[in-house]
Amino acid sequence: MSATDPSVAKGPDPSSIVRLSTAYWESQTLLTANRLRLFDALADGARTADEVASALSLDARSTALFLRACVGLGFLTEKAGRFENAPVAAAFLVSRSPAFMGNVIRYSDQLYGAWGQLEGSLRAGKPALPAETYLGDDPARTRGFVMAMHERALGIARVLVNVLDLQGRRSMLDVGGGPGTYSVLLTERFPGLRSEVLELPGVAAVARELVASAGASDRVVLRDGDYHSSDFGSGKDVVLMSGMFHRESEATCRGLIERASACLDPGGLLVVSDVFTDEGGARPTFAAMFGLNMMLTAPDGGVHADADVMRWMGDCGFRDMRMVPLPPPMPHRVVMGFKP
Ligand SMILES: C[S@@+](CC[C@H](N)C(=O)[O-])C[C@H]1O[C@@H](n2cnc3c(N)ncnc32)[C@H](O)[C@@H]1O
Repeated sequence: MSATDPSVAKGPDPSSIVRLSTAYWESQTLLTANRLRLFDALADGARTADEVASALSLDARSTALFLRACVGLGFLTEKAGRFENAPVAAAFLVSRSPAFMGNVIRYSDQLYGAWGQLEGSLRAGKPALPAETYLGDDPARTRGFVMAMHERALGIARVLVNVLDLQGRRSMLDVGGGPGTYSVLLTERFPGLRSEVLELPGVAAVARELVASAGASDRVVLRDGDYHSSDFGSGKDVVLMSGMFHRESEATCRGLIERASACLDPGGLLVVSDVFTDEGGARPTFAAMFGLNMMLTAPDGGVHADADVMRWMGDCGFRDMRMVPLPPPMPHRVVMGFKP
């Protein structure tokens, strides 16, 4: 058998195995560069490896290898021994940029250790990282989590405010609304709309600061609570449930849909936005991987199929359901339905 043997050419291709067995090298290079604030160190112009090493208190020889790896990944360019941010790094990885994604990346960085415990989680059926740490118990991690959600939501909301037509709607309940970013931007886009964000106290405290600094405290109110038990109220005409079904079981999601229906007036709109899979749960690949990420970080964490969520909404009496996928690189899909 030779390398040109047609039977070899037709066999399964091992490329994905080779590639994935070392894919964490690339992730860790990005996560470390972000953690070190490498891109800030280059924000004002090109520097040599020695200059970067001294600015960031790193070893010079190792830094040269690290910077060349970042060039290879497309985050930096090198000319005559001087390194510079590539356009993608300047746009998204420099902290003064309006589209900075560093806090989102930092949150992934904090989960790197949990992913290293995947086998243990699979055996024990328990998350590797207790959810309470980033949902209130550890103030620094909680703030980091809320800032990551805020940064991500700022990007997504640019599209979401055009996907949702909330014209004429007055009263929204944003369940598990995190930083309140969607509430702030939706109430700005649709004047007359007010929103109540129901959140865990530790997260709500940080969100209150963000809402105030956006000048939106008159139209967005944070309410401390637990969406498993807190009253959803009545007379709402929109309920937004974004990014929380992936923390919950089917039974809990069905219960949340029922309580959303009970608090909505007739004609009210339920919006469920999340990372969803196609039927079967394996595609898109990112969504299936996201299910593992949630398994590692929340007791009932996982991922649902949008078709299932629409079925649960239908079982609860919602009508005219539709699903809108957000454009790449956003992996989110938005499911909507109306209470008759
Ligand atoms: C992934 S974040 C989504 C935040 C926001 N809705 C968004 O889409 O950007 C999930 C949110 O659910 C909140 N959450 C989790 N469990 C909760 C509970 N039992 N009661 C209220 N909020 C909860 C978390 O604090 C977090 O802000």
